[in-house]
Amino acid sequence: MYEKVAVITGATSGIGLETAKDLAQKGYCVVMACRDTEKAAGLAGEIINKSGNEYVRVLPLDMASMQSIRSFSESFSAQYDKLHVLINNAGVFCDKLQKTEDGFEMTMGVNYLGTFLLTRLLLPVIMDTAEARIINIASKAALYGKLKIDEQVFSNKIYGFKAYSTSKLAQILFTIDLAEELKDSGVTVNAVSPGRVATNIWNGSSLLMKIVKPIMMRNSISAQEGARTGVYLAVSPMVEGITGKLFDKEKIMEYNQKCLDEGLRKELMKVSYDAVQFL
Ligand SMILES: NC(=O)c1ccc[n+]([C@@H]2O[C@H](COP(=O)([O-])OP(=O)(O)OC[C@H]3O[C@@H](n4cnc5c(N)ncnc54)[C@H](OP(=O)(O)O)[C@@H]3O)[C@@H](O)[C@H]2O)c1
Repeated sequence: MYEKVAVITGATSGIGLETAKDLAQKGYCVVMACRDTEKAAGLAGEIINKSGNEYVRVLPLDMASMQSIRSFSESFSAQYDKLHVLINNAGVFCDKLQKTEDGFEMTMGVNYLGTFLLTRLLLPVIMDTAEARIINIASKAALYGKLKIDEQVFSNKIYGFKAYSTSKLAQILFTIDLAEELKDSGVTVNAVSPGRVATNIWNGSSLLMKIVKPIMMRNSISAQEGARTGVYLAVSPMVEGITGKLFDKEKIMEYNQKCLDEGLRKELMKVSYDAVQFL
């Protein structure tokens, strides 16, 4: 039997997959929250065989669909009464303009709004778990994000690094806001900059990706290495009670002024609730 339950979004590849392997090895019940359930089931089988931990499960989750996020949350909450570790890892870097099922720009929709809604919906079960940890896989790109709160904030016609950095800034603002909200609850919320990691996120046949990929691959680390700080935040007693921070290589990283802009953060939270129709 297991003692702790972890949900990892986007566990079919890269950092998410390596995180699932590591937490399974450490004896967690691992719920792989993935859009490609067939691929995820195959990978779960491999993890079970290798780790000897039979508690590796797959639940469908498409972060580009609010309906799917709601269904995931309902299924999870019906099957589990505790959630010790939520790792919001699923993410995209879009090389062209794309939209989610609900009409949001894809990068913002998946990397930020999906994370926002999923976390909010899982909060009741998280709050019922002693010392639960929420970990958002963000990026240093957040420091370059330019967020303007207007009617187009989630449907701007942007893609590439502009959309990516903005979505990651939004993720950081959410991390700080939720940490502040939950500061007396025992639940911690932190973000991770995994570094430059050689994963599928930089694949793509467009000219943009042909430029971006070699830059990102330069001095890149393996997915296993990229998963390390997220796993550290999930399991280490060293970070007990630490909340609202961004970690890089297991150390707290300084925020810049944009991340600490309280006015921007509060405005973002307000429009986010409206966008995902969270009542
Ligand atoms: N790689 C880096 O250098 C780097 C640097 C900083 C931050 N990060 C962050 O690290 C996280 C993981 O990325 P990675 O580098 O490991 O990339 P990756 O190998 O492409 O993995 C991304 C994961 O997200 C999943 N995903 C994408 N869209 C989804 C959706 N709509 N619904 C559910 N799952 C979805 C993918 O599923 P499929 O297998 O179905 O595509 C995959 O499992 C991301 O948040 C990324 O922004 C990465």
